[in-house]
Amino acid sequence: QKVTAFAPATVANVSCGFDILGFAVDDLGDKVTVSLSGNPGIRVTKIEGDKGKLPYEADKNTCGVAIHAMLEQMDFEGGLEIELYKGLPLGSGMGSSAASAVAALVAVNRLLGNPFEKKELLPFAIEAERIACGAGHADNVSPALLGGFVLIRDYHPLDVIPLNVPRGLYCTLVHPHLVLNTSDSRSVLRRNVSLKDATTQSGNIAGLVAGLFQEDMSLISRSLNDVIAEPSRSVLIPGYDEVKEAIKAAGALGCGISGSGPTIFILSPNEEIAWEVSRLSQQVFEKIGLPIDLYVSAIN
Ligand code: HSE
Repeated sequence: QKVTAFAPATVANVSCGFDILGFAVDDLGDKVTVSLSGNPGIRVTKIEGDKGKLPYEADKNTCGVAIHAMLEQMDFEGGLEIELYKGLPLGSGMGSSAASAVAALVAVNRLLGNPFEKKELLPFAIEAERIACGAGHADNVSPALLGGFVLIRDYHPLDVIPLNVPRGLYCTLVHPHLVLNTSDSRSVLRRNVSLKDATTQSGNIAGLVAGLFQEDMSLISRSLNDVIAEPSRSVLIPGYDEVKEAIKAAGALGCGISGSGPTIFILSPNEEIAWEVSRLSQQVFEKIGLPIDLYVSAIN
């Protein structure tokens, strides 16, 4: 018996919510197929779409690590074989490692008769993130598992809150062909934040969450502002400031770095504007001479 599960790309941070906000996009993502095997242990037997970059060793692969963490919490003596089909580019800021881990967990959970509730799979996926980037952040794995917009109110203990997704909210993802590892992008962050920046950031997080629930596009737009991570990270992304400038007049709500970059996310109040800002972003990167991929997606 084989079970296949899909998990989507995700945008972590959503500007102001460093490590505590994220949302899931449509269609784009990773697939994992799992099956029972007569040989005990976890084996990755196939990886496609990674250009040969991901490790097959189960203790280094995010799928293997997540499943191992899950099996440690149950009585399972058997063997599992894992096939990973990457739809997401590595080091893109679109939650690639999270999508693999979550798809693997959902597939194994189903294969074994759903011993865990969906939310109970989160700590296992966080273990995989720790292996992938050295930090057990939950802002990709939570929306990859639960869908929609998600707030991680606290990590100890984990308190994950699904948020409202306003009707019509669209996301454009602009993926410049560069690789940024999350661990590197985390290492450029300031260790201390001033009281003034903490106040500004808190206001924006609260404003964004209120805007999502009130379906108030103007409030969402005013709140898409990051004074903590963006100043240190945006310099690593050519074209970032130009895209930010170019989308202003087109009616987009705002933009930010998707997770740790280099992908840029742009939020729009409808699909038409989402396509228009994708066209404008294309122009920016054509001028710079850097190839990009573009995705336009509803948020769910
Ligand atoms: N919150 C994480 C970071 C997301 O910004 O480092 C990584 O995708």
